[in-house]
Amino acid sequence: MPPVPLGLYVHVPFCARTCDYCAFYQISPTGESIQRFLAGIAAEAAGVEWTRPIATVFWGGGTPGLLAARDLRRLGEIVRVRCGGPPREWTVEMTPGAVTEARLGALRELGVTRISMGVQSFQPALLAALGRPHTREQVYRAYDRVRTAGFASVNLDLMFAVPGERDDAWAADVNEAVALGPDHLSTYCLTFEEDTRLWVKLAEGQVRRDVEMEARLYRATWAQLAAAGYAQYEVSNFARPGHACLHNLNTWRMHEWIGLGPSAASQQGGWRGANPADLDRWLAGVARGGRATEDRVRLTPALLAEDALIFGVRMNEGVDVAAWRARVPAAPWPAVETLLTRLADEGLAVWGDGRVSLTERGRLVADAVGAEVMTAFG
Ligand SMILES: C[S@@+](CC[C@H](N)C(=O)[O-])C[C@H]1O[C@@H](n2cnc3c(N)ncnc32)[C@H](O)[C@@H]1O
Ligand code: SF4
Repeated sequence: MPPVPLGLYVHVPFCARTCDYCAFYQISPTGESIQRFLAGIAAEAAGVEWTRPIATVFWGGGTPGLLAARDLRRLGEIVRVRCGGPPREWTVEMTPGAVTEARLGALRELGVTRISMGVQSFQPALLAALGRPHTREQVYRAYDRVRTAGFASVNLDLMFAVPGERDDAWAADVNEAVALGPDHLSTYCLTFEEDTRLWVKLAEGQVRRDVEMEARLYRATWAQLAAAGYAQYEVSNFARPGHACLHNLNTWRMHEWIGLGPSAASQQGGWRGANPADLDRWLAGVARGGRATEDRVRLTPALLAEDALIFGVRMNEGVDVAAWRARVPAAPWPAVETLLTRLADEGLAVWGDGRVSLTERGRLVADAVGAEVMTAFG
């Protein structure tokens, strides 16, 4: 069997300001912290065993697109020499306010194929409710620049169930995004992450969560995007033919990936672990030599099978349970199959011929299904 595709994730932990909902590890950049970060990535990359060519690269954050063009080039050179040839897909996350021709030019020269831009909303009131610093005019200007630069694939991130949002406002956001003609759309339901500004507002009763509205908007989005020619391939992800994000698919299929940078996770060579979510602690780990990962766990086949099911049911393609069963015969399959039969009886899953996938109703409760899968695996 050929080896599974190997991905490379680089976490760039810099943002101009912290959005009110965001719990990703990020800090505000200084000239010095950026230089320390780049030196750290070079040192960390030197400690990796590059066993085979990299299929997909993803620079996430934080905001990788906030680095100056010369720093993007430097990071790109550090990464590119390790890839063993041009990767099939290379994504860079950007925010609308930082999309300049100089940055885009540097990324194109490096061989970046895909830009993912956080739009969240086109409406000033909702952008303000999210503590998002950009304007709708900046979104249009940035999108135009990205398209002119000629990247093979462009994604826009949107968020729904934002405090104060009404159903028609969300439909208008989806319409406006579709009208721009991106190749891919990620639509995320707002999660109130601990210790964010919005979480504090929720705890203080200044805003509230409306679970029924969330379910309604999920369904409305799925219908609206299907009608617009975007096929859903995961609970929150939609693409025109040939534009699904290969890097994320690789992760959700429980293949292998190398993570560089603070807070980045890795799964490779029979173990999984994450780097410290702190620039100084990550740099200290890198300086000790080797990998900076903490909390390493050995990847048993049973753990991989469990995670393949938890993440796999979020994808429209579902999971080849029979293949996992053949690979890991000792896992508690009777309990898992009892669960899958019950989910099918309840109209939440389609289960037969050794494959399982969720129905639309099932995808609405994918988190709860994941929790039940965990219980079945004991
Ligand atoms: C790392 S950010 C994207 C890149 C860039 N920093 C930006 O914000 O434009 C990834 C995406 O995750 C989504 N996201 C982040 N925090 C979220 C939350 N609490 N609830 C739902 N979606 C969230 C946003 O849509 C965001 O664009
Ligand atoms: S959503 Fe993006 S820009 Fe906002 S704080 Fe998080 S990583 Fe930074």
